[in-house]
Amino acid sequence: MKKRMLIRYTIAAGLLFSTVRAQQVLTVKVNQPQATIQPTMWGVFFEDINMGADGGIYSELVKNRSFEFNRPMMGWTVLGKPATEGDFVVLNRGQLNTANPRFLRVTLHNNAAGSIGLNNEGFRGMGIKKGVQYDFSFMYRQLPATIKMKIELVNAKKETIGSAAVVTEVTGDAWKKQTVRFVATATEPMATLNIWFEGDGAIDLDMVSLFPGDTWRNRPGGMRADMVQLLADMKPGFIRFPGGCIVEGFDLSQRYQWKKTIGPVEERQLIINRWNFEFAHRPTPDYFQTFGLGFFEYFQLAEDIGAEPLPILNCGMACQFNSAELVPLDELGPYVQDALDLIEFANGDTSSTWGKVRAGMGHPEPFHLKMMGVGNENWGPQYIERLKIFTAAIKARYPDFKLINSSGTDPNGERFDYLNGELRKMNADVIDEHYYRKPEWFFNNARRYDNYPRNGSKVFGGEYAAQSDKTVSIDNKNCWLTALSEAAFMTGLERNADVVSMASYAPLFAHADGWQWTPDLIWVNNLQSFGTPDYYVQKLFSLNKGTTVVPITRNNDVVAGQDSLYATASVDAVTKELIIKLVNASGKEQNSVIALEGVKKWAPEGRLTILKSDDLYSVNSFAQPQKVAPVELVVGTAGRQLNLTAAAYSFSILRVKLL
Ligand code: AHR
Repeated sequence: MKKRMLIRYTIAAGLLFSTVRAQQVLTVKVNQPQATIQPTMWGVFFEDINMGADGGIYSELVKNRSFEFNRPMMGWTVLGKPATEGDFVVLNRGQLNTANPRFLRVTLHNNAAGSIGLNNEGFRGMGIKKGVQYDFSFMYRQLPATIKMKIELVNAKKETIGSAAVVTEVTGDAWKKQTVRFVATATEPMATLNIWFEGDGAIDLDMVSLFPGDTWRNRPGGMRADMVQLLADMKPGFIRFPGGCIVEGFDLSQRYQWKKTIGPVEERQLIINRWNFEFAHRPTPDYFQTFGLGFFEYFQLAEDIGAEPLPILNCGMACQFNSAELVPLDELGPYVQDALDLIEFANGDTSSTWGKVRAGMGHPEPFHLKMMGVGNENWGPQYIERLKIFTAAIKARYPDFKLINSSGTDPNGERFDYLNGELRKMNADVIDEHYYRKPEWFFNNARRYDNYPRNGSKVFGGEYAAQSDKTVSIDNKNCWLTALSEAAFMTGLERNADVVSMASYAPLFAHADGWQWTPDLIWVNNLQSFGTPDYYVQKLFSLNKGTTVVPITRNNDVVAGQDSLYATASVDAVTKELIIKLVNASGKEQNSVIALEGVKKWAPEGRLTILKSDDLYSVNSFAQPQKVAPVELVVGTAGRQLNLTAAAYSFSILRVKLL
């Protein structure tokens, strides 16, 4: 009976201190520090792909709020029957307002019944929550007229689930902003917004907007709290932003320009999102970048969740998979200036040009920016030429500022070898490596960094994700196999923390009804969000990183795939704990003795966290968001040695206090 109970417990726990005879000895030399783990070691990569920003974390619910999409009425439908042709027209101010040229003019002819209106469909509908307060706002200009507006949220059955009346006034030529607040009476994932007009005359409308009140930190016009919370829970060391290929743009006109993403939202110039049309198999014609989440909000987010900001800037090259446009070397000046100005925007004194702009946005204190990427996935001699110009200018002004350089799209091959060689000759601070590969690659590359040069350039695993099918396949899944393979690989990153200073999974977010690229770390719909098994692997590494790597070996070799076991060990100098991470990628339970050297005593109880699934193809979902999720146990650790049992297909973390 006792034995049967133990077996049941073993299966549930995954990794146990057991009396089972051990098959292998893992030696941990607790007193032999091997490498310092940087606080920035595990971070996140944010790109506005898969409706990550617009339609995602940026809480705006109205799609095409300023009529600037290439089809100006996309997302909008006229309700009722206008009396004459031209009662709803889009006007273009052209040079008078280049950032936001269009607005909508609505003309009414004695419409006392209020039977004419507009509907906005939201990004994929609007997620509305019962009891939450909503702010409807708009900019308007009312010519002599008497017009009333009725705002109405409706559910999928067209029933009203929230409404408000708006009284406007005659403004003459001046634009005015008005906001009305109301509370939703029901929860609905696919709501839409109606605006009804009553009266006689004309009204001009722009920046028609609807935000929930329950944003992250209740900031007006802010971010979705559930999505930010998932990031905050990871305690990421950094946030890479804004990408990704979005940095480069299809062509240079579509590159990311940070200066166009700050200041009042109505002055931020919208552009088409490159993921709108990138994949013929996943077209998203309504995908644009409004930059409501711009560089100020990004720095603020990083500060909120204690992450270092890591902006990536365009280096004068458009996406080399697309147009591959280049800025001539002698015209690179404004691009370099953008980089210098961004540092000033983040850190500059409030008397400096850009520091003053930051202060004007409500943040006089600096954001303490310490590093920046120059180029995303750029390659070839053209990249090196441009990078040298950026590096010289930035280092001349900010000698201690760290620069992250691209090694292209792949972790091997001719392009990689060329760039890696050139960048090391330049003594690059940090080289950004990307690995979008099958799970086998991740398992097989747990030793990738064991023989990297220990001095010189550090490595940033800047984008990676195991592809269960192949890169850009719509069949890729975030299953337990992909997550387990990443965990195995990450033990190799952590073991080599003296070489690898940072790493981030990519992409971060995907909207279930608006994605272009899979796999992704976190999936959302209009109301819900969940972490994939890959998310939990990232989170567990981040929350359990420790401060110093110590050796864990088996037969004097690192534990990196023998019998499908992968391990790393670290010590946390702050909490005085030993942290052992063990990945068992085999289909059988495995027993180990952990022989601790250099420590005489440890606490009689430890904390064991286990992430596992018997089915390598298990996925999390909106219906089962925790199907693969960590389980935490308190385990006894008394005795002269530790005997551990790792369940089939498991990732386990043991924390024991050293005495
Ligand atoms: O993460 C998705 C894309 O993959 C990124 O935008 C790009 O840098 C990489 O090719």
